Amino acid sequence: MHYRIATVISSALMAIAPTIALAQPLPVATAQPVPPPNYDESRVPKYVLPELLAMKNGQRVVDAVAWRDKRRPEIVRLFEQYVYGKAPDMPADMSFKVKSTADALEGTAVRKEVTIRFTKDGTGPKIDLIIYLPKATKRPVPLFVGLNFGGNQTIHADPGITPSDIATMKPPVPSKALAGPFAQDRGSSSQQWPVEKILARGYGLATAWYGDIEPDNRDGMRLGVRQLYLNRGQAKPADDEWGAIAAWAWGLSRMMDYLQTDREIDAKHVALIGHSRLGKTAVWAGARDERFAMVISNNSGCGGASLARRRYGETVTRITTALPYWFCENYRTYANRIDALPVDQHMLLALVAPRPLYVASAEGDRWSDPHGEFLSALGASPAYRLLGTDGLPATEMPEVEHPVQGTISYHIRHGKHDVTDYDWQQYLDAADRHFKRK
Ligand code: GCU
Repeated sequence: MHYRIATVISSALMAIAPTIALAQPLPVATAQPVPPPNYDESRVPKYVLPELLAMKNGQRVVDAVAWRDKRRPEIVRLFEQYVYGKAPDMPADMSFKVKSTADALEGTAVRKEVTIRFTKDGTGPKIDLIIYLPKATKRPVPLFVGLNFGGNQTIHADPGITPSDIATMKPPVPSKALAGPFAQDRGSSSQQWPVEKILARGYGLATAWYGDIEPDNRDGMRLGVRQLYLNRGQAKPADDEWGAIAAWAWGLSRMMDYLQTDREIDAKHVALIGHSRLGKTAVWAGARDERFAMVISNNSGCGGASLARRRYGETVTRITTALPYWFCENYRTYANRIDALPVDQHMLLALVAPRPLYVASAEGDRWSDPHGEFLSALGASPAYRLLGTDGLPATEMPEVEHPVQGTISYHIRHGKHDVTDYDWQQYLDAADRHFKRK
């Protein structure tokens, strides 16, 4: 891949609101029928997971040095090659502009808006980051970072938030058409972003709209960052190059690039969180980029935390049919022969080791395969133990709302596919524990 900067088509497409955290099968247009999802545990096929602590050539991985120098890079490459695709390094011409800093939320917070650009002349996609820092907490502050689904204005009703430029959204994942300014959806996902609670616990929060990085649809690439890196005459990335999830994950790393420059932020204590498709994104970003000190997978499901070989709920067959552009092209070739894939998702989670990892499921989110998310966290544990931590301190799936918390933590809560106060409560407690704030 030559990292030539191409011209970005900037004409806005239909103004459609982004999808909000669907947990349901999306309509699929396909020549081959996709089998209906299995929700019966007794019908999960027998499978053998690829060995976490053995090299491809069979050599055992017996110590931390072998993990770090050999096996970890090998697993990263396998996920690049077969699942998410390879992304470029940090762009040479990236720039940050702090657009505003102001008191907000009745004087309890400082709100900053920062724009990240990737080209020298400032054209092409940009990321508009919004950051809240607790006013009274001493600097630098630890922070949660994650992408949002609906635009920065949806995370809180704060009228000072500049609405994201969501005019680039387009089907096939439409919800409602929007007309005019987007102010009417201010705060519409504030339940998933308990800003005041996060600030009161002494953490900051940084987020950006994922569509800034690349709109979430089959044509999204035309307006997103992947376009910047195509060679002349190249219409799409090569079979082992980045899909949309890898692009969003790349964007998270660019956000981290900024956070590291901000003296008010403790960049060594940044917890990365993501829900659903953005949970898949968070895990891949956190797996690759070790600057994220903690990684949280909220209901990330297929292509995220849950084991692909179980074929429970959403399958690789289904996801690569409905949402092929999320992954690299090579992934699709495994859709109907998943046992041949050289990786499974426990290996992805293991890449976070020895950093704290939190995997969370919801009882009503069978589509994401809660048990498969648990087993994957368990399957990542040997890498954690090899690196001298406890991994996941459980062997059996815990009861609903009985979290197990070690360096790997897991809970399943009541309710549906969502990010709730219950989830945040556990994440804040876990961050306190791991960042030694208690
Ligand atoms: C769909 C998709 C899931 C995804 C979810 C979401 O349900 O099939 O893989 O996690 O959307 O991101 O909301």
